[in-house]
Amino acid sequence: MPDHPPQNLTVATTGASGALFLKQFLLAVDRDRRVQTVDFIASDSALRVMAEELGLRGRSQLVSQIIGKSSRKIHPQANADIGANVASGSYPADAMVVIPCSVGTLARIANGIASHLIERAADVCLKEKRPLVLCVRETPLNKIHIRNMFRAADAGATIFPLIPALYNRPSSLDEMAREFANRVLAHLGLPQPDAYRWKG
Ligand SMILES: Cc1cc2nc3c(=O)[nH]c(=O)nc-3n(C[C@H](O)[C@H](O)[C@H](O)COP(=O)(O)O)c2cc1C
Repeated sequence: MPDHPPQNLTVATTGASGALFLKQFLLAVDRDRRVQTVDFIASDSALRVMAEELGLRGRSQLVSQIIGKSSRKIHPQANADIGANVASGSYPADAMVVIPCSVGTLARIANGIASHLIERAADVCLKEKRPLVLCVRETPLNKIHIRNMFRAADAGATIFPLIPALYNRPSSLDEMAREFANRVLAHLGLPQPDAYRWKG
């Protein structure tokens, strides 16, 4: 962990179900004044799933399409551009989150196959010992998925499955997804003021 709350975040999204979790995560980092820059990468499959789940139409104005407004903080990067800033360890990314993370992307990260920017940026986080959070989403899991989760965790990633809490009794899907985003952000050292706190 850096000795300050992460200021420069890399957020990637892949072709697993759960686009509303990405939406609430991006809204939270856009709101959080401690976060200065968000480099945002979406795989082609992520666009396909977001078309189903959020009604997305293509890549233009991608951030506005996802969060419903433009953002000066969130900078889209092309997944095919392995020369983008976050592809290098010399770029001061503080942490990376893949939300949701498909088991395909998990497999590539866990096995060092860094042929696209998402996997390369994750690979850089692991080699530089920076926090890497993988919000893996698939069910049921086969042994390959489970082995790859072990391999990624063994290399330093946090497996943060896309499993929301229900004990806070969320009254909407957005509230449920927002609380999940709160938990990921707290894990990265960015606790949120509206986070649910269990009182016992
Ligand atoms: C509607 C839809 C839902 C999907 N849900 C999942 C899922 O929950 N988890 C998963 O690992 N793959 C899921 N997939 C399959 C992935 O999108 C597919 O394996 C893709 O190649 C992943 O590519 P990526 O890892 O580069 O984003 C889904 C695909 C579609 C079209």
